[in-house]
Amino acid sequence: MPNPFLSMKDIDKSFGKVSALKKAEFHLKKGEVHALLGVNGAGKSTLMKVLSGVYEQDSGEILLEGEKIRIRSPKVAKDLGIYCVYQEVDTAIVSELSVAENILLDSIVAGTNIFISKKQLNSEARNALKQLQAEDIPVEKPAFMLSLAEKQLVLIARALVSSAKVIIFDEPTAPLSLHESTKLFSVVKKLKANGVGCIFISHRLPEVFEICDRITVMGEGTLVGTYDTAQTNQEEIIEAMLGTSYSKDFPVRTHALGKILLRVKEVSGGEKVRNISFHVSEGEIVGVVGLVGAGKTELAKTLFGYSPHTDGTIEILGNTLKIKHPKDAIKAGMALIPEERRKEGLFVHEALQTNASFPNLQKFSRFLFMNKRKEKSFAKEIIDRLHIKTSSTDTPLIYLSGGNQQKVAIGKWTSLDSSLYLFDEPTKGVDIGAKIDIYRLVREFAEKGKGCLYFSSEIHEILGISDRILVMYDGQIVKELSREEATQERILLYASGGKEK
Ligand SMILES: Nc1ncnc2c1ncn2[C@@H]1O[C@H](COP(=O)(O)OP(=O)(O)OP(=O)(O)O)[C@@H](O)[C@H]1O
Ligand SMILES: [Mg+2]
Repeated sequence: MPNPFLSMKDIDKSFGKVSALKKAEFHLKKGEVHALLGVNGAGKSTLMKVLSGVYEQDSGEILLEGEKIRIRSPKVAKDLGIYCVYQEVDTAIVSELSVAENILLDSIVAGTNIFISKKQLNSEARNALKQLQAEDIPVEKPAFMLSLAEKQLVLIARALVSSAKVIIFDEPTAPLSLHESTKLFSVVKKLKANGVGCIFISHRLPEVFEICDRITVMGEGTLVGTYDTAQTNQEEIIEAMLGTSYSKDFPVRTHALGKILLRVKEVSGGEKVRNISFHVSEGEIVGVVGLVGAGKTELAKTLFGYSPHTDGTIEILGNTLKIKHPKDAIKAGMALIPEERRKEGLFVHEALQTNASFPNLQKFSRFLFMNKRKEKSFAKEIIDRLHIKTSSTDTPLIYLSGGNQQKVAIGKWTSLDSSLYLFDEPTKGVDIGAKIDIYRLVREFAEKGKGCLYFSSEIHEILGISDRILVMYDGQIVKELSREEATQERILLYASGGKEK
């Protein structure tokens, strides 16, 4: 191999007893788009934090254009031209500052641009946005008014004005809509054409195969292998990630359906949900599919009482319910596994087992004393079931990788014995192995006679898991399809507002 542009060799990094990286390796060529893949907790984010100066490695070396470098801080990384677009973009945006100030932040902070006039500032910022085909973002607007996708573009523009050589994208597409992702990909292609090396972390294999030249797979903190995208396929990569071959099949229904469990009639509510009618039977998995923004989360929240319905009725087993608050929904036997788990569902500074038992304190407490043993054994159960990577049940969640935090958030709801489960995008950000575990879990619930509503914007997932499919567009259900009738093309057509002739 000719000398790579950037090389990380034999990188070790431990946090106390946990060794997150063990002789990790990564090599980047100039102007390539290089995917970094691996299951949750494999060490991807940690390796990239070493590269961007957030952590310093315990041992190992980093070479940039053949020169040994030490990256002691994020500032050093930036001076070397290494930038990172974190998944939590908000942490890197100064919300009170304007778009232009955010874009030129590094040079302002460094003092190289103190005497720049506002006019100049704005025009430089506009230039950078233009290169990203994002000139529609107003440079004088305060940053907090931007959408997430726009904030990402501002961060990329910041890297651009500082002539970045390497840009790291850590799960950038997880919160984006299809359209926004497509736009991001064209930006990545442009960066590549300008000779910028891009490192791309994602749990969505189709997009990795679409935009990446090479793929490096990590496992257990170390290198598994590096592959040319043109010379490999999804199966090989998945095997490299999981360490074994896996069954792709979604579990299918083998049991008969029971009574009609949930009946929703002409329900409207929240800002989006309009005139929704459908039902879910006992033992049935009903998939609700729609593009980001179609109103899936709003519908889930309306049913669950976060934004109570203003019209229509909701019945469970023939009884009309008054759901004004989530506690009414829980009492009626519903459980909602919410989408924005990191924000809504978890106490990241608390121990894993405390988080796990939270939805069902009654089951684990007696006369207000927590039964620690029961709590621990339940935590162990979900760790096994969802293959959560953690050093113990006492570990505070903040020390778990992003995807593993997500698994705790899903697992904890399984302690509640509900009759209807609402899953809102449960597999966002979790690895392929965990996805399969989650599909199995949902199918198990159905087999026990529970009703399941599964909200997702991933069409292949909806096709695999659902017994019946409802397609949402603009706050309404525009089409119902049976498992047999549904195809990727038909769903996409209805989900984007089209109709069949
Ligand atoms: N600050 C920390 N303190 C303790 N342990 C940590 C810390 N950061 C990461 N770890 C541990 O290091 C390991 C690797 O985590 P990392 O976040 O790099 O995984 P990842 O590959 O990015 O996973 P994901 O796909 O879930 O984001 C995990 O076991 C995690 O619990
Ligand atoms: Mg990560």
